[in-house]
Amino acid sequence: MLPAYYEFQNAVKICSGLLALDRLSYELHSLHAKAPLVLSDATLRKLGLLDHVLSAMPDITPACVYTDIPADSGVSVVDHIAQLYRENECDSIVAAGGGSVLDTAKGVALLIAQGASHIKSLMGCDTLDRGHRVPYIAIPTTAGTGSEVTAVAVVSDPVHQVKLEYISTHLMPDVAILDVRMTQSLPPRITASTGMDALCHAIEAFSSTQKNPLSDAYAIASIRLIMENLEKAVRHPHDKQARLAMANASLLAGSAFSNSMVGGVHAIGHATGGLCHVAHGDAMAILLPYVMRFNEDCLQDIYSELLLYLGGPELYSQTAPARRAREAIHCVRRLAKRLNRISGLPLRLQDTGRVKAEDLPLIAEAAVNDGAMIANRKAITQKDALKILMHAY
Ligand SMILES: [Fe+2]
Repeated sequence: MLPAYYEFQNAVKICSGLLALDRLSYELHSLHAKAPLVLSDATLRKLGLLDHVLSAMPDITPACVYTDIPADSGVSVVDHIAQLYRENECDSIVAAGGGSVLDTAKGVALLIAQGASHIKSLMGCDTLDRGHRVPYIAIPTTAGTGSEVTAVAVVSDPVHQVKLEYISTHLMPDVAILDVRMTQSLPPRITASTGMDALCHAIEAFSSTQKNPLSDAYAIASIRLIMENLEKAVRHPHDKQARLAMANASLLAGSAFSNSMVGGVHAIGHATGGLCHVAHGDAMAILLPYVMRFNEDCLQDIYSELLLYLGGPELYSQTAPARRAREAIHCVRRLAKRLNRISGLPLRLQDTGRVKAEDLPLIAEAAVNDGAMIANRKAITQKDALKILMHAY
């Protein structure tokens, strides 16, 4: 059944291919960008990926290059880089990195667009207008967050130990470039973790209260690609087709959840990350089957349909209709177990070495206040969240 009303927006130009980065200079020119701020992180600089980016814009000199963005970028980093943007008279942003780098760039673009100095002053930015235009080209180096097409930026507030979520369609980049060369050096363990984040985006988008026909189409396409390619990309990091498929899967899932919502896995996962610093993808991989199990009675039809994409048509047709939802959860669990065997992806919260049993009540308390909880079809109380966490511990 169609929702009574829905919106779907994805105005990001997508350049995907084995050599897509070669488009960078052309894309900058078409955005009239002459003095970009180039953002990345120290690891990517060491791996030579920053050099790939710079050599793809031979006729444009960056006004500033900043590569000190930490893995869990915070509000002060965003404020500082916005100051650099102004001091160096930049006119655009090129960001190459994982979710932390791309979201930091979104925060900087938002500050410049709004003429503000502190990202915290722009909380609740969904009501803001576009402001001053800041051309932004995003080049993901992981395949998980989908940040290159989402209207979401997550920025840490280390003082209050929370992750701030900024949601506005004005945060969407102008161009996303998916180039295999940028994700090929991603280690198997991170490929597995970020890939499970993408799977979680697709499954939660397909299950959320705000799902719509377009977000469903994106989510389904993403799940198919992930089930066919995630394990391949973890086992064979230089498999170009698997890498390109995962980059596309991540983007599709990003667009899906950006136009519907995520749910309980993300709500509990955000709280776990905020309080115990568990990597986002690890938290998603661990929590996804447990939250699906909690949701199962309420989401029978949706999970049953998902079996077709998670397990393929043969498994779907061989499974009795009443067993399909449970089998869909088993497919997710089996994938996580295989990834655990080949890459060490954690299957339980205690395996991360960051969560103690006494942390669980605090995580549950923070989880029920997370914005993502609203879109979970089955209400999750603090007591439920604690139970889920205890099972996943
Ligand atoms: Fe996520």
